Parts: sequence; C-alpha cells; structure tokens
Amino acid sequence: MTRIRLCASEAVPAGAVVAVSVDDEDLVVWRGHDGVVCVMEARCPHQWSHLAAEGAVDGDELVCCSHWWRFRRDGSGWKVNVNGRRDRKGDIGVLPVVEDDDGVWVEGEGA
Ligand code: FES
Repeated sequence: MTRIRLCASEAVPAGAVVAVSVDDEDLVVWRGHDGVVCVMEARCPHQWSHLAAEGAVDGDELVCCSHWWRFRRDGSGWKVNVNGRRDRKGDIGVLPVVEDDDGVWVEGEGA
C-alpha cells in the first residue's frame, strides 16, 4: 500500500467539493460542515453526474443536486422525500482517507 496525496487541506474547506484524479480514476474530496473530510468516486451512481459540478455538502452528507440523491461517508445512498422519509438508493465507492499536516491522502494499491 502506498499513500497518495490528493490535495492540501486548505483546498477543501468545510462545505467544499474538489475534483481530483488518481491513476485515471476520477474522485471527489469533500469536507462536511463538521470538518471531517471524505473521498468518493466522482460520478453519481444514479445518472452519472460529476459530483464536483453537481454535488453540494449538506451537514455530513454529499448531495447530488441533479436528482437529490445523498451520500453518507460510508458510501450509502439515500433520498429524502418531502415528509422526511429516507429511502435507500444506490451506493457510491468511498476510499479510506488520511489527513495530516501535509494534506489529504488515500491509500493506493500501486507505486
Ligand atoms: S445523477 Fe445524481 S441524483 Fe441523479
């Protein structure tokens, strides 16, 4: 396993979603309003919207604004109806993330 640096911590303030690429895989780095960072696949599993363009952080979830699916940091997908009921939707891939003084990192297989 090799750690791969994705970006500086300052590049992902609370509420931000940033596009990155690792080994030709498109990913997003986002930070919840609680300050915790997360790394996910960039494409929404519903209709493939890029979450750096269509994603918005809501609390500790990333929402795809194309059709309002929302993703927890464990990758589980949900949609909330007007009455607040949560229905399960498709999941998204999440990568193990490490943040330290040098930035945001994921564990990679190669190199
Ligand atoms: S493409 Fe993301 S919710 Fe539809």
